[in-house]
Amino acid sequence: MVTWVEPPSTATALLLLGRGADAETEKGVECPGELPPASDLHLVERARRAKAALGDRVFVLGHHYQRDEVIQFADVTGDSFKLARDAAGRPGAEFIVFCGVHFMAESADILTGPEQRVILPDLGAGCSMADMAALVQVEKAWDALAEAGVAATTVPVTYMNSSADIKGFVGRNGGVVCTSSNAERAMRWAFERGEKVLFLPDQHLGRNTAVLKLGLSLEECVLYDPHKPTGGLTPEQLRDAKVILWRGHCSVHGRFTLDNVTEVRKRVPGVNVLVHPECRYDVVTAADYVGSTEYIIKVLDEAPSGSSWAIGTELNLVRRLALAHPDKQISFLERNVCYCSTMNRIDLPHLVWALEELAAGRVPNQITVDARTAADARVGLDRMLALP
Ligand code: 13P
Ligand code: SF4
Repeated sequence: MVTWVEPPSTATALLLLGRGADAETEKGVECPGELPPASDLHLVERARRAKAALGDRVFVLGHHYQRDEVIQFADVTGDSFKLARDAAGRPGAEFIVFCGVHFMAESADILTGPEQRVILPDLGAGCSMADMAALVQVEKAWDALAEAGVAATTVPVTYMNSSADIKGFVGRNGGVVCTSSNAERAMRWAFERGEKVLFLPDQHLGRNTAVLKLGLSLEECVLYDPHKPTGGLTPEQLRDAKVILWRGHCSVHGRFTLDNVTEVRKRVPGVNVLVHPECRYDVVTAADYVGSTEYIIKVLDEAPSGSSWAIGTELNLVRRLALAHPDKQISFLERNVCYCSTMNRIDLPHLVWALEELAAGRVPNQITVDARTAADARVGLDRMLALP
């Protein structure tokens, strides 16, 4: 039985989301071409035609948070880890159209060959979390660690949701990139090579991994605030810490609360709470299952008919899951939380425009990472791909 409460319209959803952080990532980027109107009744047919005309020259990747209207044209769908691997595994495709956000397209550019071009259909599709760590801030933090005498024994680990610059920093400094599906392995890898970890930029994924997976205590994790001198920490605090968490978070997952978990448990007897590890520590601790988007899909695929689920992740994915499993009761963990507004920027008009431009011999919205940054970032990404 699907007990789906129709979510708010996109416009309402964006209002509910409180655009502060996301508006920053969108940087007022206008489409450089002429977008077809959303009211064009032939958009699906146009996308189909343009994609067919391009044939094997184009490979379309779709993150699980993308809209249905876009996902239907993806050659593969996946979480950030799977998409990074899939991008790297398609050397024959001339164009990789990335239906996701900017940091994913950057990683795809780094992992693909020099003759391949990566296209992001809307350049405004950034990520508020990735924007919370700038290279200059991370270099300052590293200086603070050096002054405290611990930089040489600290291994930096960055979440995939960070700019290529930050991945480059990590690659240059003996560190590794991770995603939500391999953060535990990445952190263990780092502790085999150093005494401390600097975890960027998602404090929640870092804390959840350190405490709930590696068994460290909350006191062994300190929070580095890039807006304060030396992160708001004393040299002694930096020396005593095992994990230095960057003060960043996801504006979507950060909205789920412990009250949401308590409320749904009261309302739906026997409900299973399944959340993404970008959620806060108290939410993750109170949940029954925690994992990446790919994991969430797998758990629901394997769940028995008739079981009840409250899911704490982005709405497009939860909606799709509810429709795909009419025999299970699937609801959203928090009634007002909504779409990731930047993921949602990739809509059918932008996809049609990008595919038609490519079919016409023009390359729109190409994402390129400069060679030096790419080489350093590739080191961090390759270390991730080689994790056991
Ligand atoms: P995963 O797809 O790796 O689970 O990450 C979710 C996310 O927030 C991507 O931005
Ligand atoms: Fe960034 Fe959060 Fe959106 Fe993922 S869901 S792209 S982390 S803002």
